Amino acid sequence: MMGQPSKARSDLAGRNFLVIGRVGMDLCPTPAGTATADAQDMMVAMGGSGANIAAGLVKMGCSAALVTSVSDDAVGWYCLNQLDNYGVDRTHVKRITGEYRTSLAVYESRVEDHQSVIYRNNAADFQMTVADVEAVDYSQYSALITAGTVFAAEPSRSATFRAFELARAAGLPIIFDVDYRPYSWPSPEVAADVLSRAGAMSDIIVGNDEEFGFMAGGIDKGLAKARTLAETSASVVVYKMGPKGAVTFADGQEIRTGIYPVNALKPTGAGDSFMAGFLASLSEGRPMKDAILRGSACASVVVAKPGCAPAMPDLAALEAFLARHPGATEI
Ligand SMILES: Nc1ncnc2c1ncn2[C@@H]1O[C@H](COP(=O)(O)OP(=O)(O)OP(=O)(O)O)[C@@H](O)[C@H]1O
Ligand SMILES: [Mg+2]
Repeated sequence: MMGQPSKARSDLAGRNFLVIGRVGMDLCPTPAGTATADAQDMMVAMGGSGANIAAGLVKMGCSAALVTSVSDDAVGWYCLNQLDNYGVDRTHVKRITGEYRTSLAVYESRVEDHQSVIYRNNAADFQMTVADVEAVDYSQYSALITAGTVFAAEPSRSATFRAFELARAAGLPIIFDVDYRPYSWPSPEVAADVLSRAGAMSDIIVGNDEEFGFMAGGIDKGLAKARTLAETSASVVVYKMGPKGAVTFADGQEIRTGIYPVNALKPTGAGDSFMAGFLASLSEGRPMKDAILRGSACASVVVAKPGCAPAMPDLAALEAFLARHPGATEI
């Protein structure tokens, strides 16, 4: 149905998102520009892609609930407090005991020689179970959002596939950020297979050029893979190209969008902020191109500042950024 907003998009109007994904602690050496190896002081913030997306959505005026598990220790409690501070519903965040730990990310606020070190040994979030996702009342939400890492290990993988079934049965669109992080997976072959299966079940798919290339078996085949998904199973597919912009397949159209150039302080957080800005804008009923551009603007705001969740703009900050920026590049 060319030109008609698809069903998946009209469903977002409730603006109440269920996010399956992790929450963790981020540490960044301060001041900006400091190498971790030389650090004397660190800034602490909430992190983890699921929590970041949820926090970004709330900042943009939506509601969001997170489904995951954290270690029942001071780092896990920090995450729970932060979710409260950001206004993310944590009813479905379970505390677990044992040797599992909430994940930790130590990353630098600099682009040149950037180092990101992620601690995911015995990650608590991978302990999310089928019973955990079956405890959620899907009918309360407008859509289910997830990102690739939840599929990297069991029992989280089976639990997320079960959540997809339950969400689908409740009529929710499934929104999937491929977000492939090799370090979380047993092998690239397993990752390519599982991520492709998840992609085939999703209504809105967001990924970067490398991720679509990875699922397709070669970087040169990624764009065609994104187009094929949009022609077959998905209603919207966003193929992101970092600082080169994005190509979006929706309603039989290919929409090319640029970026809002900024002085990037770090490469991290672009994808999560893009997702939050994009979905919040779509759920307001904005046209596809406008929503993509607003997601890009949210990403620009985040890469230009230290931190991820703390750097994400609220609606007023996004409007202020758009008002003073000369405009997006054309591609
Ligand atoms: N340096 C930058 N300056 C401005 N905008 C950027 C920059 N990097 C990324 N963006 C914007 O963010 C969007 C998403 O970025 P990208 O394609 O890097 O996603 P990603 O690889 O999923 O990110 P992440 O590494 O956070 O997961 C891009 O389409 C672009 O609009
Ligand atoms: Mg990403």
